[in-house]
Formats: sequence, C-alpha cells, structure tokens
Amino acid sequence: MSLQRVLPFTKSLLEQAVANGDRVIDATAGNGHDTFFLAQLTGPTGKVFAFDIQQEAIQATKSRVEAFHHVQLIHDSHAKISDYVVSPISAAVFNLGYLPKGDHSIITKSQSTITAMEQCLELLQPNGLLLVVIYSGHEGGSEERDAVMEYVRTLPQTDFDVLQYGFINQRHSPPFLVAVEKKRKKVL
Ligand SMILES: C[S@@+](CC[C@H](N)C(=O)[O-])C[C@H]1O[C@@H](n2cnc3c(N)ncnc32)[C@H](O)[C@@H]1O
Repeated sequence: MSLQRVLPFTKSLLEQAVANGDRVIDATAGNGHDTFFLAQLTGPTGKVFAFDIQQEAIQATKSRVEAFHHVQLIHDSHAKISDYVVSPISAAVFNLGYLPKGDHSIITKSQSTITAMEQCLELLQPNGLLLVVIYSGHEGGSEERDAVMEYVRTLPQTDFDVLQYGFINQRHSPPFLVAVEKKRKKVL
C-alpha cells in the first residue's frame, strides 16, 4: 500500500460524506475540478453551489460542468454563502490559494475564508464535512494558513471533530487538508 496523497484523500472523504440527492458547496470553484466531482456524487436530484470571485474561474467551471443541470455557479465571494444557501448541506470544500494558470495575485484571504467556513459549519447537517485544502507556499499563504489553523483549533470538541492530514517531510510547503466533521447531537 502507499499513503494516499492529500487530494485523493480529500476526494475519498467526499465520497463517504456525500450521497445522491445531497446539497453541497464548492467554495472555490477555480477550474471546476471539485465542482465536477461533486456534481457526479450528488446526481441530478442533488444540488451543487459553486462560488468564485473571478469571472474566468466561473467560465472555466461552466465549461467543465455543462452536462450537469444541478450546479449553480455563483460569481460572488464565499463570504456571502449564507445569502445563497439556506438549507442543510452534507459537505463543503475549499481549495485555498490562487487559480492555477490564472492571476496569482488573486488569492483567498483569511478573513473571508474564515467567514465562509463559519457559514458552512452552520449549514452542515450532522456528520457533514467541511474540507479545506490549505496551500501556503505563495505570498500571503502562510498568514491565511495560520489564521485558519487558529480558528479550527478553537472549535468546540463537543460539536466538531477536527482532523489535519498532510505530509510533514516534503519541501516547498506542500498542501495539507483540514477536515471538520459536525457531530450529531446526543439526545438525552
Ligand atoms: C486554488 S483555486 C481553486 C481550485 C479549484 N478547486 C479547482 O478544482 O480548480 C482558488 C480559487 O479561489 C477563488 N477565490 C479567491 N477568493 C475567493 C472568495 N472570497 N470567494 C470565492 N472564491 C474565491 C480564486 O478566484 C480561485 O479561483
């Protein structure tokens, strides 16, 4: 066996958390790879909300998912998720950083990222997953990484399980995953 890389591991968690007919969020659509994967998992009776602030990313995602009619592309900041999504979701995924092959100066920023993560945690159904893939090698990336890590460490253990997954002996700030599972409330 070999240890799963970060992105395949993230996908395998999504496969476990997301069922046909579910509602899910891709908070950073980018080139649409995650949106496409989520569209396959949720199927035509589900719904994928995909956000990006760049028209270029929305366009790239649109081309990738044109066969799916249950994907809503939202050209807006993920900081406004709760303006668009009001009922429970089974998963939300973030890929932080910049659009590959795009403008590297347009990056996710800690304040809007954490605001969006808070809104996703509110929307998550019990046993739902919030997955955040953190890239920190670019300018501004380490500040965002530190802020996100500080935030997730404060999440109450009674309500959430928080996991970190990544390789710690690789050069050049490799990406790592933070996965947050919302716990089911115990009925007393
Ligand atoms: C690393 S890329 C995402 C890659 C994507 N998951 C894929 O499969 O190709 C990060 C994306 O986040 C977007 N982004 C940055 N700030 C944002 C914000 N506040 N709200 C939504 N998207 C944002 C960028 O425009 C960029 O396309």
